[in-house]
Amino acid sequence: MANYPMICLRPWRLYILLLYILINKSGAISPDGEALWSFRNAIVNSDGNLPLWRPEDADPCNWRGVTCDLKTKRVIHLSLKNHKLSGPISPDLGKLAHLKILALYNNSFYGTIPSELGNCTELQGIFLQGNYLSGPIPSEMGNLTALQNLNVSNNFLVGPIPSDGVLINFADNSFTGNRDLCGKQIERTCKDDSGGPRTDGQSPSGQNQGGKKKYSGGLLISTSATIGALLLVALMCFWGCFLYKKFGKNGSNSIAMDVSGGASIIMFHGDLPYSSKDIIKKLETLTEEHVIGSGGFGTVYKLEMDDGSIFALKRIVKMDEGFNRFFERELEILGSIKHRYLVNLRGYCNSPTSKLLIYDFLSGGSLDEALHERSEQLDWDARLTVILGAAKGLAYLHHDCSPRIIHRDIKSSNILLDGNLEARVTDFGLAKLLGDEESHITTIVAGTFGYLAPEYMQSGRATEKTDVYSFGVLVLELLSGKRPTDASYIEKGLNIVGWLNFLITENRPREIVDPNCEGVQVESLDALLSVATQCVSSSPEDRPTMHRVVQVLESEVMTPCPSDFYDSNSD
Ligand SMILES: *[C@@H]1O[C@H](CO)[C@@H](O)[C@H](O)[C@H]1NC(C)=O
Ligand SMILES: *[C@@H]1O[C@H](CO)[C@@H](O)[C@H](O)[C@H]1NC(C)=O
Ligand SMILES: *[C@@H]1O[C@H](CO)[C@@H](O)[C@H](O)[C@H]1NC(C)=O
Ligand SMILES: *[C@@H]1O[C@H](CO)[C@@H](O)[C@H](O)[C@H]1NC(C)=O
Repeated sequence: MANYPMICLRPWRLYILLLYILINKSGAISPDGEALWSFRNAIVNSDGNLPLWRPEDADPCNWRGVTCDLKTKRVIHLSLKNHKLSGPISPDLGKLAHLKILALYNNSFYGTIPSELGNCTELQGIFLQGNYLSGPIPSEMGNLTALQNLNVSNNFLVGPIPSDGVLINFADNSFTGNRDLCGKQIERTCKDDSGGPRTDGQSPSGQNQGGKKKYSGGLLISTSATIGALLLVALMCFWGCFLYKKFGKNGSNSIAMDVSGGASIIMFHGDLPYSSKDIIKKLETLTEEHVIGSGGFGTVYKLEMDDGSIFALKRIVKMDEGFNRFFERELEILGSIKHRYLVNLRGYCNSPTSKLLIYDFLSGGSLDEALHERSEQLDWDARLTVILGAAKGLAYLHHDCSPRIIHRDIKSSNILLDGNLEARVTDFGLAKLLGDEESHITTIVAGTFGYLAPEYMQSGRATEKTDVYSFGVLVLELLSGKRPTDASYIEKGLNIVGWLNFLITENRPREIVDPNCEGVQVESLDALLSVATQCVSSSPEDRPTMHRVVQVLESEVMTPCPSDFYDSNSD
């Protein structure tokens, strides 16, 4: 197993825990050692090649990556580069008062740069490039008057680069590859309103920023109808190309070929009892027979291990050069996310020709199939449960992940169901990873047409609010039992949102409900329609956040006030 970059979390942590108990019994380490030990404990993963630091030592001076001043035994260098170290950078590093060099580059550190580094006043070099660090650059770093070298390139840092103090001395090449930094150093002016800069160079007409446009209902319908017609053409064209690609060309490149030439497996949670070899051996046996679906980004296979556990394997063939490293960084983030209403990404296989993503398998299939292809109907309660689950999964991505994640591709085929028909959101983050910025419409349109917010179709810029819109469309789809682009609307020149708006102007919105849906409750229906209507509002600022959506669903839709509570009008 040591030959493969397989990450095993549990045994390693257990060992540390044991040692920790041991050390607490046997005596104290130096304060610098204690600070480093706490830095070490915050790390959740490594490439497995990092020998254990031994907390029973009197000082940390012989620990790998650590250099001390010979006389004082104080730590002066900490250098742990290229080890796939993953986790936050502990603020306790701020206690290393004599630290001169901090080199943690090319790892997977995430979270913010601790402002406590400003306490290490002797720092001369900070090298944090090539991690997943997010948030702002702490102004305290401006206090580091001895600092001569700084590199925080290729992270996810945002906001103004502090211009007080020494940070003004560093130029562009210390900060490159952070998409949302601004400041004099990189010749990018900061917009003080948003906290970060926005360069919307390519958005066509100035609809997105200050100048809010309000649509009247009629205008909205006709706009979406025109866009709808245009997109339909694009859709057909795209579909044609896709079919040509799929069947017109050879079908011979199999998974066995993908994994034959030096593939490696990266597992994220370390809680599966398989070696890389086990998994690769299984992958080699997959054929067309094991295909269970094909989404926008690739074919999905059912992967059954010898112990009976089943996984879903998504095979992504599209690979650009220079794409790999970015891909791995993003996947690492996606793999760290675990939530009851999200499909768990277990790991991936890195092969020269493709990426094979390993997900948990869900026996209920997709919501798209459940709603539109299976004969047994989802009743009202089942539909509400699915809506709430999807909302919670999405709210988690938007509000509880760091960095936050915009799904970009919410649709019924990306909502999977488990054996109890509970919803799990899948494919989060993939649209960003695989979508081509330039041609977002064509790459996304195949399955997503009808779910896209109007401003997203115009500018191609995804926000949380474009997800909220797609979620609103999803709710309408569940309510009506019809795809967002059902022929019955299209022939009237509408999509599902246009249809809802039409029914609202006619004062009969309840008619959108699927006549085959059993057990509809009027109170919760009205509340749900009201939420959905807000979600699909044409102006993003009128849409609620997913947090708010979950709140309303829980308080007003799932448990509508029984009308006999208020002994009045319950016509
Ligand atoms: C980053 O670290 C990995 C090992 O974790 C190594 O294989 C790779 O070459 C390093 N990349 C750079 C640019 O140093
Ligand atoms: C950093 O310095 C400040 C003020 O000097 C102090 O309050 C804080 O505890 C220090 N932090 C650490 C981690 O040493
Ligand atoms: C350190 O930085 C903080 C924030 O920028 C500032 O308030 C403080 O005065 C600085 N301290 C020193 C000793 O320079
Ligand atoms: C910082 O690191 C990046 C690679 O991640 C490199 O391209 C850049 O030149 C470095 N900057 C400095 C100032 O060394």
